[in-house]
Amino acid sequence: MSLNRMEEVHRRHRNAEDGGGLERRERQHKEGKLSARERIELLVDEGTFEELDKLVRHRCRDFGMDEQVIDGDGFITGYGYVHGRMVYVFAQDFTVFGGSLSESNAQKICKLMDLAMKNGAPLIGLNDSGGARIQEGVLSLGGYADIFLRNTLASGVVPQISAIMGPCAGGAVYSPAITDFVFMVDQTSYMFVTGPEVIKTVTHEDVTKEELGGGMTHNEKSGVAHFLASDDAACLRQIRRLLSFLPQNNVDDAPRRSSSDSPERMEAALDTIVPPESNQPYDMKEVIQLIADDGDFFEVHEHFARNIVVGFARLDGRSIGIVANQPTFLAGCLDINTSTKAARFVRFCDAFNIPILTFEDVPGFLPGTEQEFGGIIRHGAKLLYAYAEATVPKITVITRKAYGGAYCVMGSKHLRTDLNLAWPTAEIAVMGAEGAVNILYRRDDPESRQQRIEEYKDRFASPFSAAERGFIDDVIEPRYTRPKLIRAFRMLENKTDTMPRKKHGNIPL
Ligand code: HXC
Repeated sequence: MSLNRMEEVHRRHRNAEDGGGLERRERQHKEGKLSARERIELLVDEGTFEELDKLVRHRCRDFGMDEQVIDGDGFITGYGYVHGRMVYVFAQDFTVFGGSLSESNAQKICKLMDLAMKNGAPLIGLNDSGGARIQEGVLSLGGYADIFLRNTLASGVVPQISAIMGPCAGGAVYSPAITDFVFMVDQTSYMFVTGPEVIKTVTHEDVTKEELGGGMTHNEKSGVAHFLASDDAACLRQIRRLLSFLPQNNVDDAPRRSSSDSPERMEAALDTIVPPESNQPYDMKEVIQLIADDGDFFEVHEHFARNIVVGFARLDGRSIGIVANQPTFLAGCLDINTSTKAARFVRFCDAFNIPILTFEDVPGFLPGTEQEFGGIIRHGAKLLYAYAEATVPKITVITRKAYGGAYCVMGSKHLRTDLNLAWPTAEIAVMGAEGAVNILYRRDDPESRQQRIEEYKDRFASPFSAAERGFIDDVIEPRYTRPKLIRAFRMLENKTDTMPRKKHGNIPL
């Protein structure tokens, strides 16, 4: 090998590493953002990243692009390890044509996605991109469509995680939208289909970039994003933490982590956590923390539809997906956003062999025209559908209210949940006592109605009617919930259950 050839290799590598140059990198840093390479370094275990396609170049000759050729073309792709487990990673370098997608770097991503699929390991995209490269026209659009196809084929096969770490538009938001989890960085990341200027022209609305597509907007309002981080480094740490709960692919089991937290641990505080008055709230996250290994709960979609809580925890070292009504917010009722939030989470867990644990305290579906016109029937049906089709081990604990349709939806026995437990405080009925008596005994005088209410409460506002029929497998003392759950999940460890043969179902979208 000639020395010149080796020098050429080094020169091209340096050119790729230099990206859009020092000035643009400094602008990136000044905005509080890390460079694409710095991000990858923080994401993977130290020194494990191997880059692919570092010498790929774009082939565009229009708009003077032949004068501006940067090796790697602004996308860094490759593989490395997180907690010693393989991951495939790409990062868009905003300093090179705004991280925009060319035909060439679309091919780089597709190559990476094909490798991730064939080898069964998660795919992580660090997005910082103005979308399709304008100078390349339909070639870049085609590149995005090639990626969307692979995102869809990989869905449910390997976990796909997207971080939004800068202004992302067009394809740079639609590809993440197909993936399983979207992270955003507060104040430096944006997602929109069309930006504020276009909106002003078309609808005459005045809206800032932050209000339109900032981190909090998508975490709290639209639900497009699942996680919000204070800066790039925190975002990358969160991704590493998420991965610790996930299997590598859909035929793998999630990693088991040993814990010094005894599987037999009782928690007396659970006996009194549900207030005596049934309209008093309590924090369901406390219940989860008291039961989980080491009190560790990794919440997903924390800021969105807060009347339901979803996230990952471990029981006896095993990853568990938790879905829990949250009485502190809108009394924990089910509405459009809670239904879609929980349905998507249940489907993720089911696709990736993660058992589902449900804590139920739900007064019913939220009434009102806003919900009905918005399609609560269609959206609530998603959650029913997701629970019903899930074949992973499923356990439900009713801590208090399980009223009406919400009883059926939230992992009831009838939707093939394996074990249904109730605390003595459980109230399982078609509706609350007052509502029921108002319908059945509308014409009675107030005194007799009050008597009927007490009768109804005695008869139905308890777990016993359901337990007598086997819809509830046992009524347990709350303090024993952790050991009971751990034993039950062990009992279900080898569960197999199937769906009827079909191409795919037709979930009400
Ligand atoms: C080529 C681009 C680009 C793009 C940005 N740049 N977007 N180059 N193609 N799509 C370049 C800019 O020219 C600039 O180059 C550099 O990147 C930084 O951009 P700025 O505008 O200076 O940065 P900022 O002010 O932070 O604004 C970022 C931005 C904005 C919000 C992303 O650049 C923007 O709106 N870009 C266009 C977004 C867009 O409409 N994309 C097409 C989407 S269609 P210099 O040389 O000055 O540094 C699409 C189809 C997919 O993606 C299909 C979806 C279903």
